[in-house]
Amino acid sequence: MHKEIKLTVSGTGFVGLITAGIFADRGFLTTALDTDENKIVTVNKGETFFFEPYLPELIKRVVLEKKTLIASTERIKSIKESDVTLICVGTPSKSDGSCNLSFIESAAEDIGKALAQKEGYHLVVAKSTIVPETTRTLIKTIIEKQSNKKAGVDFGLCMSPEFLREGQSVHDTIFPDKIVIGQFDEKSGEKLEAIFQHLYRVEDDDFSKTWGTIFGKKVSCPKILRRSIETAECIKYANNSFLATKISFINEFANICERVPGVDIKHVAEAIGFDFRISDKFLQAGTGFGGSCFPKDVNAMITFAKDHNYSPKLLESVMAVNIQQAKRMVQLTENAIGDLKGKQIAILGLSFKPETDDMRNAPSIKIIDELLSKGANVIAWDPKAIEKAKKESELSDKITYANTLGEIFDNTDACLLVTEWNQFKKLEPKDFKKMAKPVVIDGRRIYDYKKFREEGIICVGIGLGEIK
Ligand SMILES: NC(=O)c1ccc[n+]([C@@H]2O[C@H](COP(=O)([O-])OP(=O)(O)OC[C@H]3O[C@@H](n4cnc5c(N)ncnc54)[C@H](O)[C@@H]3O)[C@@H](O)[C@H]2O)c1
Repeated sequence: MHKEIKLTVSGTGFVGLITAGIFADRGFLTTALDTDENKIVTVNKGETFFFEPYLPELIKRVVLEKKTLIASTERIKSIKESDVTLICVGTPSKSDGSCNLSFIESAAEDIGKALAQKEGYHLVVAKSTIVPETTRTLIKTIIEKQSNKKAGVDFGLCMSPEFLREGQSVHDTIFPDKIVIGQFDEKSGEKLEAIFQHLYRVEDDDFSKTWGTIFGKKVSCPKILRRSIETAECIKYANNSFLATKISFINEFANICERVPGVDIKHVAEAIGFDFRISDKFLQAGTGFGGSCFPKDVNAMITFAKDHNYSPKLLESVMAVNIQQAKRMVQLTENAIGDLKGKQIAILGLSFKPETDDMRNAPSIKIIDELLSKGANVIAWDPKAIEKAKKESELSDKITYANTLGEIFDNTDACLLVTEWNQFKKLEPKDFKKMAKPVVIDGRRIYDYKKFREEGIICVGIGLGEIK
């Protein structure tokens, strides 16, 4: 069945490219669409434009070898020639925190115009994270107006949110915990479920063998939950808001533990993590959450709730704790070395988390801004994100970027560990002892502070209550 189904993916960004790549790897004939010509040219060469484990091999294979993926800016023509369109365009924050739906509007217009020229049924699936009721009131309305066709009759409509984690997105797309299908009508839900059943079918083919070997487990169909469209939209926001809440919770507790002599938040988190009702996931105290999803999605829910006459006090606190957490790193630095004016501070890790070069809302940006406002000079190093930090982030040329990790220790007054890349986990006291007076502020609690201190290094960390 899949060989006959032609997919178009509207939006070849992070989610769109990975989604298109995996469907194409299973054999679906897929066209990735975007308004950005540069992205399309890059993909058609079999290359990628951001760092993500296993993605370069995947895109090279489906574009150049299997030839099941092509990329195009000819959006209306491509949609018209396909059977299913997955909407994966961005939904960034507006300045008031609400969800910017302008890309969703333009994608829906493309689909509507294409359907006006198309005969036969077409399935439209919104995968972007969109505030409740957007699929019905915006996407459906625009497509019906542009095409003069009816949802549930001439075209199908679903909302199927994406839950992948950056840095592990290929894994998460092949082995999702669940698939949520919000269906406008029964037929739409059934069509989409059949597509997922084909994607995840258990078979002894190249797809299953390749990914099964890489990740050491069998490809199989995850739990598929068929719900209403609005429920699916809410599930995505509840999912991200809950994870963000766990992070802010443990960070708040870390700040409390710092005030209690001899308490280490890691021991507290470990113990509560054994409680199956809590689980040990997302309980690592640190510099706070960032990235393109958690901050924007929690803010979007806050604005949405307020617009609907509800004051979401918990979600507001989640954001407030997160904003102050980045500053906590700077307070710890001041406690360790005093006034920061004229001091040289080294940042280890810029991306918002390891295994990605994504700089969107990275805690490093807030930490560096705070350091600069206090008159410090900043030098930073990251295994993958330096180019994005220079060209696409607010940091740009405000700081110095080291050419090698080794350079970071020269003339530096304190090293701040911000992103827990594996490479940084391997650093030993001897590496930091290249500094004249070694000081380490461990924002992710990856170092054995007792060992570091025995070696004469001042090593402090988030959530470490000092014995006075
Ligand atoms: N990045 C993640 O980890 C992640 C995880 C889960 C869900 N999501 C959600 O998925 C959606 C996409 O996120 P992303 O990170 O991939 O965004 P992104 O900004 O990386 O990519 C969006 C792409 O859409 C393109 N675009 C804009 N208008 C278009 C149009 N009319 N037609 C075709 N392409 C168009 C843009 O040029 C861009 O390449 C968002 O709603 C996001 O919240 C993201």
